[in-house]
Amino acid sequence: MTKASSDSRATAPRWGVIGTGDISDRVIADLTAIGAEITAVWGRSEDRVEDFARRHGIPQWTTDRGALLARSDVDIVYIATPSQTHYQLALEALDAGKHVLVEKPIATSAEDAERLFARAREVGRFLMEAMWMRFNPLHVELLERIAHGELGRVTSVRASFGTAFHPRPGKDSPARGGSILRDRGIYPVTLAHWFLGTPADVSARGVLMEDVDVSGHATLDYGKAFAQLAWSGTEFLDLSAAVSGELGWITLEPMFWAGTSATVRAGNATRIFRDPERIEHPRIGNGYKPMLEAVSDAVAAGKMEHPWHDAATTIAVTRTLDRILAGITT
Ligand SMILES: NC(=O)c1ccc[n+]([C@@H]2O[C@H](COP(=O)([O-])OP(=O)(O)OC[C@H]3O[C@@H](n4cnc5c(N)ncnc54)[C@H](OP(=O)(O)O)[C@@H]3O)[C@@H](O)[C@H]2O)c1
Repeated sequence: MTKASSDSRATAPRWGVIGTGDISDRVIADLTAIGAEITAVWGRSEDRVEDFARRHGIPQWTTDRGALLARSDVDIVYIATPSQTHYQLALEALDAGKHVLVEKPIATSAEDAERLFARAREVGRFLMEAMWMRFNPLHVELLERIAHGELGRVTSVRASFGTAFHPRPGKDSPARGGSILRDRGIYPVTLAHWFLGTPADVSARGVLMEDVDVSGHATLDYGKAFAQLAWSGTEFLDLSAAVSGELGWITLEPMFWAGTSATVRAGNATRIFRDPERIEHPRIGNGYKPMLEAVSDAVAAGKMEHPWHDAATTIAVTRTLDRILAGITT
């Protein structure tokens, strides 16, 4: 991890918010609950941004994004707008000298993700994709245990995230939100990267609607290991995941990316077949608090990346998403 330029503040950062949709609502409730100072919010509609600000006790609101980014009392912006806008908005915020936490996916190509991290380094600002799964205490524990050999060598990852589509205002088709791989499939792909890294080979199939991928499945081949992943915005797919290795396996119960419980079957016959171990981590708030605290601490400490979801990991996952999508769309 690298250090930001010397003007970084040693105190807790003051937040600005870009986007007032469903996810912003949930994340900002957690940001408020950890005691963060939220100075201002931007939204496209006067009514909606005012309503959002009042509900969350944010003192300033605006429909002028330049005005929010020009504020000297905003150190970091949280961006929660549709995925295809993330690259431009994150770039705008970095160019304005702000630290940035941007919703997943950080960008719609690995090249754009690389450009964003390069820009963040140039301007000496923190940048992270809001991959909250990595900060979930359940995943933190599982990553530590597996790194310490709980499963021996990891040989496979299986994960899927699919829910049936329900029309709602502004979203009359599953294609309206953009690539379902990048929106949902990013969680299974990120999980595979944690335990197996970048695949040697990728094979994928999917369904396009209005030129947008709305469901798909992929096998990531690692030579002596593999990942079987699936995602959908049109139908339900089991929302659990499993990581297997030479000594047994761990099942992450639904919804695996926001998981609160897992079952470990590993080590010996009793634990595998008769008496598996159950791990529980009750949800704290809406589930975003651990990530928001980690980001606030990293920015206050003058960091430019967080080691748990750094530039290298984010770019590698985005590149795998690009490879999967190429297999579906060409
Ligand atoms: N971390 C998580 O748990 C999680 C879960 C689901 C989704 N996400 C991610 O969060 C992001 C936002 O999702 P969402 O469901 O909240 O989206 P959303 O409700 O469709 O939109 C969020 C906000 O973006 C604004 N917006 C729409 N189009 C815009 C544009 N062209 N330029 C600037 N702003 C625009 C909307 O403004 P109006 O109100 O004016 O329409 C709204 O305030 C997505 O990238 C998604 O992948 C994260």
